[in-house]
Amino acid sequence: MKHLLKLADLTSEEIFGILNLADQLKYEREHNIEHPHLKGKKLGMIFQKSSTRTRVSFEVGMTELGGSALFLSDRDLQIGRGEPIKDTIRVLSRYLDGIMIRTFAQKDVEELAEYGSIPIINGLTDYCHPCQVLADLMTIREYKGGFKGLKLCFIGDGNNMANSLIVGGIKMGMEVAIACPDNYRPDAEICKWASENGKLTVTSDIMAAAQGADAVYTDVWASMGQESEKAEREKVFRGYCVDNKVMAVAKPDAIVLHCLPAHRGEEITEEVFESHAKEIFDEAENRLHAQKAVLVKLLKH
Ligand code: CP
Ligand code: NVA
Repeated sequence: MKHLLKLADLTSEEIFGILNLADQLKYEREHNIEHPHLKGKKLGMIFQKSSTRTRVSFEVGMTELGGSALFLSDRDLQIGRGEPIKDTIRVLSRYLDGIMIRTFAQKDVEELAEYGSIPIINGLTDYCHPCQVLADLMTIREYKGGFKGLKLCFIGDGNNMANSLIVGGIKMGMEVAIACPDNYRPDAEICKWASENGKLTVTSDIMAAAQGADAVYTDVWASMGQESEKAEREKVFRGYCVDNKVMAVAKPDAIVLHCLPAHRGEEITEEVFESHAKEIFDEAENRLHAQKAVLVKLLKH
């Protein structure tokens, strides 16, 4: 494993390896056992979109591993003034040991990997969010003890989260059910791959998707970069909401997950959110542990 560009690039064994190391790092942190695996290493973090969790968990993660992180906003970098990404990465490769980038186009992340000579980590694109799903898988395993025989349901936009959940869920052997409006389905190639490699259902019927689910996941109706579509999306997605009726058809012990930030009263009700807050905030915490595991796998030589 040289980069983390998308989960599809990883084998199931590599994902299990990350999850196992993440569990170990979480245990060590809880028991005040230091783990300076990345002493002296430097991570650049390029942000072309907002972030709370990704930014703070990567920065704290690098500090806890004995290294350091630089926050690089595109408002300050020359990228914002048009310097090509392939030039930027050839320069940054001379200074840094790794790059985490949050941006719009997946091809920009792939270009960094092509032209740079250091590991590249995808911190979210319009296409996928692999770091989030590693934390989600870690959380599902914590609560359910494994993945075998589980049904993972996602309700909402067939966006970056849905794409990565399908890949991660299928690679871990779960059944995946997506409920989304017809014109907002997940990536067609990902769906094709998933149907050939496991059990995937894509439907506009929320109740059918949630039926018997072990984990119910949702995300915002309008993602970053889709602000101008907000009003239209509010109409289309009305009803794509994780509420008590949805939870009543899921398994009685089903967990609820949300990548956050959440819009209560849109994709999830206040009541469902707060009654599953423990899982949702464990999931947010697990971003730290899962990403530290990724950093160790990629940056430690
Ligand atoms: N879930 C997630 O990636 O959160 P941020 O946008 O706050 O980083
Ligand atoms: N789909 C959301 C996820 C945020 C973590 C977005 O891209 O804005």
